[in-house]
Amino acid sequence: MKTILITGGAGFIGSHTAVELIQAGYEVIVADNLSNADTTCLEGVEKITRKKIPFHKADCCDKRQLKKIFEEHAIDGAIHFAGYKAVGESVYKPLMYYHNNLTSFMTLLEIMVENGGGNVVFSSSATVYGQPDILPVTEETPRKPAASPYGNTKQICEDILADAVRAHPTLKGIILRYFNPIGAHASAMIGELPRGVPNNLVPFITQTAAGIREELQIYGNDYNTPDGTALRDYIDVVDLAAAHVSALKHMVRTDRTGSCDIFNVGTGKPISVMELVNKFQAVNKVPVKYRITGRREGDVEAVWADTSLANTVLGWKAACSVEQTLEKAWAWEKRLRGIK
Ligand code: UD1
Repeated sequence: MKTILITGGAGFIGSHTAVELIQAGYEVIVADNLSNADTTCLEGVEKITRKKIPFHKADCCDKRQLKKIFEEHAIDGAIHFAGYKAVGESVYKPLMYYHNNLTSFMTLLEIMVENGGGNVVFSSSATVYGQPDILPVTEETPRKPAASPYGNTKQICEDILADAVRAHPTLKGIILRYFNPIGAHASAMIGELPRGVPNNLVPFITQTAAGIREELQIYGNDYNTPDGTALRDYIDVVDLAAAHVSALKHMVRTDRTGSCDIFNVGTGKPISVMELVNKFQAVNKVPVKYRITGRREGDVEAVWADTSLANTVLGWKAACSVEQTLEKAWAWEKRLRGIK
């Protein structure tokens, strides 16, 4: 398997995955409608890899546009990142989220089946576990009813892929459930580029340290955790990108038909919000002004991964320490803002 289509490849995780795939010897084609990204990260990918990347500004919901890409390139597999991802926004714009996230994925799968199948990796999320009863979560941990339309689209897309793979033997699928992806490439050429006010913790921290935001709000210190702030499993985005390479290799190696393997992609180590803020300040020697406020609606108290399955079956393991990851996140923000 050589040529991989990355939908949403101009985005945060997609661009890092493009780098890892190219460095592992794959040909990469990127399709992105640039609705929540621009070409900055793609230019970064080209600088890092010294390769020109075939880029198609295309909307995966538009079958004609996507089909044209399959006609132009001999695509062996796809990694589907294209989708809206703001939890809060999905509550206000559910139809937009359902339409975009479901249609884009179904369109991709339809075209792949029509073209004789292939391997597809779906970007799912730890959000499917909700607040689990037992921690850490394994892939067997039951999914909880989704707390947002965004979370529901992840669950439904998982089901769509499982059903499609069962019905179409030429189609092979893997679901990767990401925990909390953070950080940036070590070159500082690519990283997270949220539009407007960041929803996620680390971009908010880096923007506060850069002076763009006045202060970070820590959402709640009354959780039943060691320091009262919520626990998450923060996974380095380059490690996460590498998991996609391992997943593709695994699919070729095992050639499984009819069922869809699922893997947690995390570090297996819980870290609290307060710990993360403190580590960021310590490793980067930069202050982050913060204030404890009330809990954010829809947040869970604690979730972290049991990564044994990915470790043993995919032969993949998170390699980067959280300190290194936070250094890279800050290096990227500084480069972006021209801070010395
Ligand atoms: C959210 C989504 C998850 C998605 C992930 C992408 C849910 C419930 N969450 O995870 O699906 O895959 O983003 O990265 O669906 N925090 C603050 N202050 C801030 C921002 C965050 O204290 O300004 C805290 C949050 O309360 C939380 C932790 O930091 O405890 C992490 O938050 P965030 O980065 O937004 O990720 P999640 O909500 O865990």
